[in-house]
Amino acid sequence: MAELQNDNGREAWASRIGLILAMAGNAVGLGNFLRFPVQAAQNGGGAFMIPYFIALLLLGIPLMWVEWAIGRHAGIFGYGSAAGGFGTLVKSRRGAKIANYLGALGIAIPITFAIWYAYIESWTLAYSVFSVTGEYFGIIDFDSMRNFLQSFQGVQGGGHFSGITDQVFVFPYAALIFFLITISLNVWILSRGVAQGIERLAKIAMPTLFIFALILVVRAWTIGTPDPAKPENSFVNGLGYLWNPNFSQIANANAWLAAAGQIFFTLSIGTGSILTYASYLKQKDDIALTGLTTSITNEFAEVIFGGSLAIPIAVAFFGLAQTQEISQAAFDLPFAAMPMIFQKLPLGQLLGMMWFVLLFFAGITSSVALCSPAMAFLQEQMKMSRQKAAMIIGLILLCCGMPLILFFGHGFLNEMNFWSGTFGLVIFALIEVILFAWVFGMEGAWQEINAGADIRIPKIFKFIIQFVAPVYLIVLLLFWGIQQGIPTLLMTGQNPVDIPYLWGARLMMAGLAVAGIWLVARAYKRGTIR
Ligand code: TRP
Repeated sequence: MAELQNDNGREAWASRIGLILAMAGNAVGLGNFLRFPVQAAQNGGGAFMIPYFIALLLLGIPLMWVEWAIGRHAGIFGYGSAAGGFGTLVKSRRGAKIANYLGALGIAIPITFAIWYAYIESWTLAYSVFSVTGEYFGIIDFDSMRNFLQSFQGVQGGGHFSGITDQVFVFPYAALIFFLITISLNVWILSRGVAQGIERLAKIAMPTLFIFALILVVRAWTIGTPDPAKPENSFVNGLGYLWNPNFSQIANANAWLAAAGQIFFTLSIGTGSILTYASYLKQKDDIALTGLTTSITNEFAEVIFGGSLAIPIAVAFFGLAQTQEISQAAFDLPFAAMPMIFQKLPLGQLLGMMWFVLLFFAGITSSVALCSPAMAFLQEQMKMSRQKAAMIIGLILLCCGMPLILFFGHGFLNEMNFWSGTFGLVIFALIEVILFAWVFGMEGAWQEINAGADIRIPKIFKFIIQFVAPVYLIVLLLFWGIQQGIPTLLMTGQNPVDIPYLWGARLMMAGLAVAGIWLVARAYKRGTIR
């Protein structure tokens, strides 16, 4: 079958709707359903929406356009990742070289991200199966359901998956099997390429995700008060808990940091992966409207779906106090509270399947996106076949995922999450916007963004991109660096037992960063980057 190709022989998207679905698939992820509601509830509920929408307007959407524009520009020169792509923004040879080495981050960060993200994704696959088979049905109290989750994760000895109840370390074979399946699926999709793999996946996964979410939201609205003896435990009060504004919170810098962090995370900006997807555009393709459409689609999924599901439903069944407690531990809400609830509803197995398949589709359309910068680089700069590139990425995920699985209880995931999913994004976005607006130059940048545009972007965004976004990012970085970066770096408050494992996680991440730099050096030697 003939491959879809761009003017310069690179792969291309097959259709505009396919592109939008793929980009939406990239952005709509576990963050929309699991991260957003918890962030909102902890940072002022409805009042969180103020710093959230400000961050969307001043950072999210402008940086979305910036990343699309850099990506399309890079693609025209034959580059599909920041390593190579960043260099096209700089005139001098030396400057371009520095930019390309910085661009190695645009491969290493998303791969690091993909490792832990794919692991959580594999749980959603596992729980989809467990819903259909009724594996967790019959576990009727919350603590036992948490034990079920923990024994699946291998955190706690025994319980459901080993039959042994007091073992300290259990090899989490079920988790490993589902991780293997998840990686294989990712590899398979990546090896089919952009149009036949990623785009086709999005065309199936995204509509399914929206339909399942809609069904679950409608079901949630009709829950009412599950326990007539406790009328205050209702879905509506759950919505109230999540959405009633608590304005005292937004005087708190934390709410602003959390809001900006959520915007980065949910829109997938500052990872380098939107850049890769945009590199498969044609020179004259619109980015202004399509980028905006992607952002709006993501926000709809996040605020409407993400904001109506986990937390309000949990309030209806568990009450406010317990829901607050449950949502402190990141994964108890989706993987323990929800399974409890499905057992109490008619057609619970079906609803449970919908919830977890929805999460799985949200996850897999994002994990292939996280792998795509490395894919593009291995294919185009290292001249590998698509199949080989996909296999190598699968092996990296598997090998680096092993310590994550085996030492899950020791904070491996949090460490990787912080550096790749919070801090890294802001640093990378800052590099992007400085290179584009200041080194490449704002006049050229504005022309790039508006070339082929189907809408007129208000001129104010030129100012926002040039001045507001970089300043916002620097302020964020300073606050974050002091408040979270330094304590995280120094491992303040960590359990001494965990510290060697956290160093292990760091060593692994440093190894990935070095590998990225090494790849760029190889590409320079081969002459595949200039
Ligand atoms: N947006 C994804 C989510 O909401 C997470 C994410 C961040 C991501 N950066 C990314 C996904 C880059 C793919 C590519 O879950």
